Amino acid sequence: MSDTPLNIALIGFGTVGTGVARILTEEHEQLRVRAGRELRLSRIVVRDLGKTREFNPADVPISSCIDDVLNDDSIDLAVQLVGGTDAALEYATRLLGAGKDLITANKALICAHGPELFQIAADGGRTICFEAAVAGGIPVVNAITTALTGNRIEAIEGILNGTSNFILTQMLSENQSYDQSLSLAQELGYAEADPTLDVDGTDAAQKLVILTRLAFSTDVPVGEMSRKGIDELTLSDLEAAASLGYRIKLLAMAKLNNGQLETSVQPTLVPQNRELAQTQGADNIVTITGSAVGRLGLAGAGAGQLPTASAVMADVVDFATGRAINTFKAVLRSRDQNPVEILPQDEQKHRFYLRCTVDDRPHVLADVTDILGRHGISISSLLQDESRMATASDQAARLIIMTHRVSEGQMRSADAELDALSCVQGNCLRLPVAD
Ligand SMILES: NC(=O)c1ccc[n+]([C@@H]2O[C@H](COP(=O)([O-])OP(=O)(O)OC[C@H]3O[C@@H](n4cnc5c(N)ncnc54)[C@H](OP(=O)(O)O)[C@@H]3O)[C@@H](O)[C@H]2O)c1
Repeated sequence: MSDTPLNIALIGFGTVGTGVARILTEEHEQLRVRAGRELRLSRIVVRDLGKTREFNPADVPISSCIDDVLNDDSIDLAVQLVGGTDAALEYATRLLGAGKDLITANKALICAHGPELFQIAADGGRTICFEAAVAGGIPVVNAITTALTGNRIEAIEGILNGTSNFILTQMLSENQSYDQSLSLAQELGYAEADPTLDVDGTDAAQKLVILTRLAFSTDVPVGEMSRKGIDELTLSDLEAAASLGYRIKLLAMAKLNNGQLETSVQPTLVPQNRELAQTQGADNIVTITGSAVGRLGLAGAGAGQLPTASAVMADVVDFATGRAINTFKAVLRSRDQNPVEILPQDEQKHRFYLRCTVDDRPHVLADVTDILGRHGISISSLLQDESRMATASDQAARLIIMTHRVSEGQMRSADAELDALSCVQGNCLRLPVAD
């Protein structure tokens, strides 16, 4: 047991910061034993000093000035739990420059600026840990960088956004519309007032970018990833998929296909017997397929005060024991491997679910199937669902088409022609089916 405490500054004292302060305070003695030294919360920095706090650790000075940490030579470790990429990037850069090691839970920061921050840290002999930035309480960064290093990672599939999984679960289980489920998610605190980044797939894509760097040494920017949100889905899509034996999930996927890497974040039909399909509510899951271990799954709370603080605390203890530097070096080494060639989106192949709302009149089916046939898209099943549409309009029917395996490019070229058909109302919805 060392007599030298690890002096910690908490930058950001909101949801996650409060959880970290609670654990550091309430589990103080157990953490001292596990870390082999005292973990001392020495300073807290916030934006608004006038805010009422739900938890106030005794004898810890709180300020609104980052300089109080930068100028305090006794601080070893900065736990930065500030969102966004403006102040967060400035603080992270200055903290590393001032010789502090850094922990962050900020996926947007690590996704957009991870490589440059890692370089600053490496050049200055400092360390960055970011377990909580991906899937909250699920230790997936540690699994990839440490526990699975004997494997060639072949695939990562996950539900990485709890908000959208809550909405999809709620819609199907409670027969609710997308808007009703979103409102409930907001009431319960699972969704922000502006839920855009959660429901349009950006949040999950930022996490997938981080995992893809670690597992495949390849940088796929969010903007270059095939990405679609859940906001176009209707209850009848979820029901149609369920009747065919699937659940629709916002699936984040990065996998090798004949030596090339395909990545996407999009609502996907997942066979209902897979653990991914059975992940309910706001939970997350990550399945990793390794060349030696096969497929393994890690599931649990992907957000929330204490689950996220749990991941942050694992990093804190790793700093205290000296393990963090090894994990960070593994992250740095992952950059040294050759990146994998990226499979162009149009060449990614799947089976597809296609939903079109069409005029209920003769020859419509022939028009739709003619377009699919001309693009070499073979149909595996076709369902005309008039029951739900009948309530909306007697003149409309809903076609649900499941295709055989075809390329995204074939489907994309058919999309435009389908949407241009005079008998098609609105745009058709097309979703991939997970293998
Ligand atoms: N919440 C989760 O479940 C969860 C899960 C995984 C990852 N994360 C990530 O963890 C990070 C923190 O999330 P959170 O939910 O804890 O956020 P939050 O509740 O909004 O708290 C943010 C904290 O940062 C402080 N802050 C903001 N700007 C600042 C500035 N310029 N200078 C000093 N302090 C500043 C705020 O101060 P005031 O309190 O004075 O406003 C607040 O204490 C984010 O990057 C988020 O993506 C969160």
